[in-house]
Amino acid sequence: MPTLSITLSFYTSLAKSLLSVAFARLYSPQQVSKRDLTCQTAIVTGANSGIGLCIAVALAKQGATVYLACRNADRGAVAVDHIVAQCDDKSKARVICRVLDVGDLSSVRAFCQQWTKEGTKIDMLVHNAGIAALPTGSPTKAKGLDTMYTTNFLGSFLMTHLLEPQLSSTARVVMTSSTGSYSAQFIHDASLRQVAPAPGTIAQYIAKVKAMLGFEAESSAPAYALSKAQQVLFAALLQRHFDAQTSLTDGERTYRTAYAFSPGFTSTPIFGKMDVTWQTWFTNPLFAALKTTEKWVAVNTEEGAKTGVWLATWGDEVGKREQGGTFWERMTKRTSLVDRMDHKRKTDEWRTWERDAEVLWNV
Ligand SMILES: NC(=O)c1ccc[n+]([C@@H]2O[C@H](COP(=O)([O-])OP(=O)(O)OC[C@H]3O[C@@H](n4cnc5c(N)ncnc54)[C@H](OP(=O)(O)O)[C@@H]3O)[C@@H](O)[C@H]2O)c1
Repeated sequence: MPTLSITLSFYTSLAKSLLSVAFARLYSPQQVSKRDLTCQTAIVTGANSGIGLCIAVALAKQGATVYLACRNADRGAVAVDHIVAQCDDKSKARVICRVLDVGDLSSVRAFCQQWTKEGTKIDMLVHNAGIAALPTGSPTKAKGLDTMYTTNFLGSFLMTHLLEPQLSSTARVVMTSSTGSYSAQFIHDASLRQVAPAPGTIAQYIAKVKAMLGFEAESSAPAYALSKAQQVLFAALLQRHFDAQTSLTDGERTYRTAYAFSPGFTSTPIFGKMDVTWQTWFTNPLFAALKTTEKWVAVNTEEGAKTGVWLATWGDEVGKREQGGTFWERMTKRTSLVDRMDHKRKTDEWRTWERDAEVLWNV
């Protein structure tokens, strides 16, 4: 049972998050101080568009070598040109695109294998790639795993595991999560998350009426919220794993940190990828409302990316290490759903991820 103070802090954080979604444009812009990231290497997934692109621009402008991990090489190449064009000294900009489909675990393995062969140390690993809804007609499952779960979460889990030996001693692992994480239902077995209603139950009759009205498509909102909460939980457990490592790395103690953040309501191409019909107002009212109001309510992409940039670039000071494993919004720590979970539920989730990614990774 969470304590009263955690419960109060949770609902306060939730209220603040909802306010900042609804009134995003009324808040003053976040101020992120510039750093010298020369000699540091970053990988940003989903960096050809939206928040990932803005994070990549910010890191490259501060001198980092930035690898854009994108599923489409052409879109990645356009992004490389865009980022280089924004750097003050274009001749010194080091921006490289690598193909990676985070929703395909074999692609994740191939990417990590290549990276490991090259042996480049990673200072910033930004897991940003994500989808809010499946494109019409896409299969909801690939190889028995839910597509949203694999794309938004499991690919990052596997990638972090495989790249862990390449993380520098002060590496920051950052996940672009969402305020939607607050509405997630944690269920231990991912494969049972979308069960059909049992015959003869009210749920089955409701499903039949929905089908008659053309509401056949499942709402993607619960799967999205779950995947975003899994990122928050992953940050917490990954930090625990990092902290438990007492071994020395290259003669130096490790001070790795992991964070999840919400960019708030940010204007990006993600909303253009959602099909909203009149039925969506019944099956997925939140997404329908977000897509409809984006133009007037959401903040610009640069603003939405700032907390992610700040987290990726601030954690190199040893003293800030105790802040790892936490959830952030507008450069402020928030109490998350994960803070209310007991130890066993957290560990059960980790075991499910290990099973689904087919790896063993003690936490
Ligand atoms: N915008 C918001 O208000 C908001 C709010 C909360 C959280 N977020 C989160 O922010 C992150 C970035 O989203 P965004 O708003 O910037 O949307 P976006 O512009 O659509 O960016 C998403 C990026 O992820 C990439 N991606 C999707 N599936 C992928 C896959 N299987 N493999 C590799 N890359 C893949 C996309 O590549 P393609 O260009 O090839 O599709 C794109 O580069 C997402 O995780 C999203 O959940 C956004």
